[in-house]
Amino acid sequence: MSTNTERITGHQRIETSNLLMIVLVLLTVLVGGVVEIVPLFFQRSTTQAAPGLKPYTPLQLAGRDIYLREGCYNCHSQMIRPLLAETLRYGHYSTAGEFVYDHPFQWGSKRTGPDLHRVGGKYSDEWHRIHLNNPRDVVPESNMPAYSWLAGAPVDAAVLPAKLRAMRMLGVPYSDADIQGAAEAAAGKTELDALVAYLQVLGTSAASIKEARNGNQ
Ligand code: HEC
Repeated sequence: MSTNTERITGHQRIETSNLLMIVLVLLTVLVGGVVEIVPLFFQRSTTQAAPGLKPYTPLQLAGRDIYLREGCYNCHSQMIRPLLAETLRYGHYSTAGEFVYDHPFQWGSKRTGPDLHRVGGKYSDEWHRIHLNNPRDVVPESNMPAYSWLAGAPVDAAVLPAKLRAMRMLGVPYSDADIQGAAEAAAGKTELDALVAYLQVLGTSAASIKEARNGNQ
């Protein structure tokens, strides 16, 4: 006997209604997202500076802005993932607490060149100066552009106090003395000096990373 007794289950009702399906999928994604993302704002490990992490000096901060202006992030990430291939190549994986003073952080998403998060201390200042002036002079097969004008461009030191003040508003612990002395700290330096100073401090100041470096690398 063929009867129409098959019950329409709740699941069938959802699967046969576009609207209901869309609404419920969105709801599921929303709840999933909130549950994953919101706790990060309240976790100490993601919101507190890693022990030993220092704010950028005025010169390093100027260098960071040159890094942004020149678009270095278009080819370089600053985010070492906890994967063996990456930690063997670059060193200790990046931890959230190391980026607390970065506004905005420079994690990036494109790796035409190597990750730079632990490049600090890897080469001498002189290597960086030659490399930035013309990468082919030290890495013959490099396709990185040359930034030869940086050596002749003075750092705009006058704007640094305002930059430090803005960073302080975002939670970077600069003192009044830091802010007052900022222009003087970078006076007479070139943009190349600033960029190299920035590159040389990348990924170096957190105590946890120093320990790991001393311990097993
Ligand atoms: C078009 C892509 C591109 C851009 C833009 C770029 N780079 Fe590179 N970079 C590379 C490539 C490719 C390499 C690897 C070859 C080499 O060492 O030159 C590299 C290497 C480097 C290295 C050496 C890394 C290591 O561990 O050996 C540093 C430091 C560096 N770049 C800094 C910068 C800075 C600072 C800027 C911005 C002023 C910049 N790069 C812009 C592609 C780029």
